[in-house]
Amino acid sequence: MEIIVCKDNNELSSKAAELVGDTLYQKENPILGLATGSTPERLYEILIENNKQGDITFEHAASFNLDEYVGLAGTDPNSYRYFMDEHLFNHIDIKKERTHIPDGLSKDMEAACKNYEEQIKSAGQVDLQILGLGLNGHIGFNEPGTDFAGRTRVVELDETTREANARFFDSIDDVPTQAITMGIASIMEAEQIVLLVQGEKKAAILKEVINGEVTNQVPASVLQRHPNVTVLTDVNL
Ligand code: GLP
Repeated sequence: MEIIVCKDNNELSSKAAELVGDTLYQKENPILGLATGSTPERLYEILIENNKQGDITFEHAASFNLDEYVGLAGTDPNSYRYFMDEHLFNHIDIKKERTHIPDGLSKDMEAACKNYEEQIKSAGQVDLQILGLGLNGHIGFNEPGTDFAGRTRVVELDETTREANARFFDSIDDVPTQAITMGIASIMEAEQIVLLVQGEKKAAILKEVINGEVTNQVPASVLQRHPNVTVLTDVNL
């Protein structure tokens, strides 16, 4: 793991944008793995600016998002499809049909999850996976206790995760109890992974992720086993 401590969110987001830019430039058909949450918002703003200025293009790119709430339509402002459209896709030159997010409304969840894995496989490997870090160490929605061999599937959300994400909803009762998430095994197949960790409240969990034992109680600790991970953080380590 390469750990880069930045002075603030803007600096870590700029460095992440450079890595995304490198992938877009180097790969003929770049495949990006994308994340939601507050952390990557500034990164997406910078990518939009760089795209508008003509410094980068998503013309040949495809994307796969990590996760989606079960039960929310893409038109729901709390869905991750809506988040991605608003924060990135509507403002860049990516082809919408090449942006993939698990379908939270599928009638057949098992088939939808299998189909998502197949779509990733047929696109080829994810070249660069952006990850955020949950307060409980989750990546995507792979909660503590997760199976490291897990693939895209429906998971129950931890109460702590529902509480952490309640800030986006009118009330905690509106926060879905389930999500579809790419599994740890799916995430670990990316060629390169960039973990973004912003804010001192994540200091304790980040230390466990990078220095602690590799355990499914801290799902992101599995990244210690990946050959190409960059951690970009403004946490004072
Ligand atoms: C959410 C998402 C994760 C995200 C994480 C951190 O629940 N499922 O993909 O990385 O929690 O979110 P934030 O960046 O808002 O702290």
